[in-house]
Amino acid sequence: MTTNSPGAIPATTFNWKQARRAALAACAALALATAPAVAPPTAEAQNATSGVTSRTVDMWPAAPHRRPADPYIEARIATIVSRMTLEQKIGQMTQAEIRSITPEQAREFHIGSILNGGGAWPAMHKHAAPAEWAALSGAFYAASMSTDMATPVPIIWGTDAVHGHNNVFGATLFPHNIGLGAARDPDLIYRIGRATARAVRATGITWAFAPTLAVVQDQRWGRTYESFSSDPALVRAYAGSYVRGLQGALNGDTDVIATAKHFLGDGGTWRGVDQGDTRTGLADLIRTHAQGYYGALDANVQTVMISYSSWNESGVGERGARMHANRYLITDVLKGRLGFDGLVVSDWNAIEQVPGCTRTHCPEVINAGVDMVMVPDDWRAFIDETVADVRRGDIAVSRIDDAVSRILRVKLRSGLFDSSPAASAAAMEAASITDAPLAREAVRKSLVLLKNANRALPLARESRVLVIGKGADSFPLQSGGWSRTWQGTENVNEDYATGETLLAGIRRVVGADHVRYSETGAGVDPRQFDVVIAALAEQPYAEMKGDVTFPATMSHSARYPEDLAALDAVSGQGVPVVTVLYSGRTVYANDLINRSGAFVAAWLPGTEAGAIADVLFRGPDGRVQHDFSGRLPFAWPRTACDSTGRAARFPAGFGLRYSRPQRLGALPEGSAAAPCSQ
Ligand code: BGC
Ligand code: BGC
Repeated sequence: MTTNSPGAIPATTFNWKQARRAALAACAALALATAPAVAPPTAEAQNATSGVTSRTVDMWPAAPHRRPADPYIEARIATIVSRMTLEQKIGQMTQAEIRSITPEQAREFHIGSILNGGGAWPAMHKHAAPAEWAALSGAFYAASMSTDMATPVPIIWGTDAVHGHNNVFGATLFPHNIGLGAARDPDLIYRIGRATARAVRATGITWAFAPTLAVVQDQRWGRTYESFSSDPALVRAYAGSYVRGLQGALNGDTDVIATAKHFLGDGGTWRGVDQGDTRTGLADLIRTHAQGYYGALDANVQTVMISYSSWNESGVGERGARMHANRYLITDVLKGRLGFDGLVVSDWNAIEQVPGCTRTHCPEVINAGVDMVMVPDDWRAFIDETVADVRRGDIAVSRIDDAVSRILRVKLRSGLFDSSPAASAAAMEAASITDAPLAREAVRKSLVLLKNANRALPLARESRVLVIGKGADSFPLQSGGWSRTWQGTENVNEDYATGETLLAGIRRVVGADHVRYSETGAGVDPRQFDVVIAALAEQPYAEMKGDVTFPATMSHSARYPEDLAALDAVSGQGVPVVTVLYSGRTVYANDLINRSGAFVAAWLPGTEAGAIADVLFRGPDGRVQHDFSGRLPFAWPRTACDSTGRAARFPAGFGLRYSRPQRLGALPEGSAAAPCSQ
């Protein structure tokens, strides 16, 4: 069986002509994705605003591409399940975390899956080599294949490879999804999926918890950078490309299982609150938040992760129903109407948030349709309590059998039964976890030029350059959250074994002796230089810690006054200032933009930020080497309190080019730090 699209290109035989054709095909698909793909929700759905969910599935457009079951695989599943004990079945449905379980325990309890959380490494060795990862994978695999089950079932390991294999020392980190959204290039996304899959397989892991398909509506959310765009059509097209890239043919040595997450409405929470309440009607849920799932299902995605958030259809009250307990959306819609036959996994300890549940006990989620439960630490109690639920009749055996069948289906399809992923990893080169050229292409394409007064850019290679700003020489700041650690914090440059900072890139281009770096700009006379390049940045953050909580403003300087101070030290002195901003969202930045001749939104470029220099500077022959091509994936706020793009300074889709200049006058600077109202 092959799941490759016509646009799919095997990474090994890469060829530019083919790539161009594929890109064109993908662009056509992207254009198509908008209109006919979404049949408008039916009148019934449009009317479903009364707060009473009409539990019908008809208003959901059917998934475009349903694949027939493989009779051989289905027969094997039935045989294996028929020979399993209840304890073994619940063990299969359990996903534990590598810090809380040993291979021996996984063997004893017939554990179906493990994960490494953000910032968890083999033996908690932060600089573990791919071989150490693969060795641990091999140990878990061997343990799972030596259980007392009638048919041993291989364990599957999942990891948050969300912008490259980001937990692994020495791996190339690609731009976070927000930057990829700016690139508007589905073929690039496909190739990043391929490269990420290869990196993950080089460590003996076969399941990536990516891509995130949130269609973020309020950029207060700290996970905005995990979203490609506020545009459902773009998310849909990218979902397909990413999943095809990650999964390849499903069972090759460089293929991994992908995860469409977080189902459903994670990007729609009220005021962008993490794990919050998505207050919207069914029609909007379909039209906006479900679009990525159509793309992922079309690409045969094998797993779906449920969202921590709730869906509040009527928009009334504190909170709607937790997605983890939403039987209608998980079972009736996703598995029924949309025909998803892979496995549904819960999010990290998410079951405890369902009313009446604890972190070790929640029959509601299994009855709602969750097949595998992520119980990172308390997996043992979970198994005992869930076994008791089934014995008591609180969960039907048929539901358990369905869950286990889905887990086995994914494991069989992915070839896990055939050989240890550690064996194929051992055959791969250590360099499989890197792809600098691809990351550099992605970085160049992700940059969005918002201002270029008096043609401050492009820069001559002969320039004497003053570099300022805390982001210029910092791998942690250019990489953001989900980088080496969960939040991306507690890292230093030495935790990144590969890549190039912007400062290093500038030095490479103009020669180190033409470059002076001063983080604050204080005490350096900018008039000694031809240009100042300022690299400003948010501090790294991820889920739970990254929200801009209402009523705080979206002003970058309100949160990072040192960045405004750095610009104040160098601007207005007759020397052009080029500002590069690293951020996980679009922010209010009128003050920063006014103090800059040119302003570049660079998002979170990952390890290869040095590639930015190849766009800012002309080539050795004096010509532009790479024009800007990125376009805003989200609207850029006009006011400090606009986090939803309703009033845009620059609309989504905006982006200047060298070949297409535009004038921009002084922007108004209100009191950006005052709290927001309403
Ligand atoms: C996140 C998921 C992630 C999981 C495993 C959760 O907290 O929401 O996106 O895949 O943790 O690390
Ligand atoms: C883990 C993450 C996880 C988070 C959720 C962290 O300790 O490393 O992967 O998403 O907890 O609370």
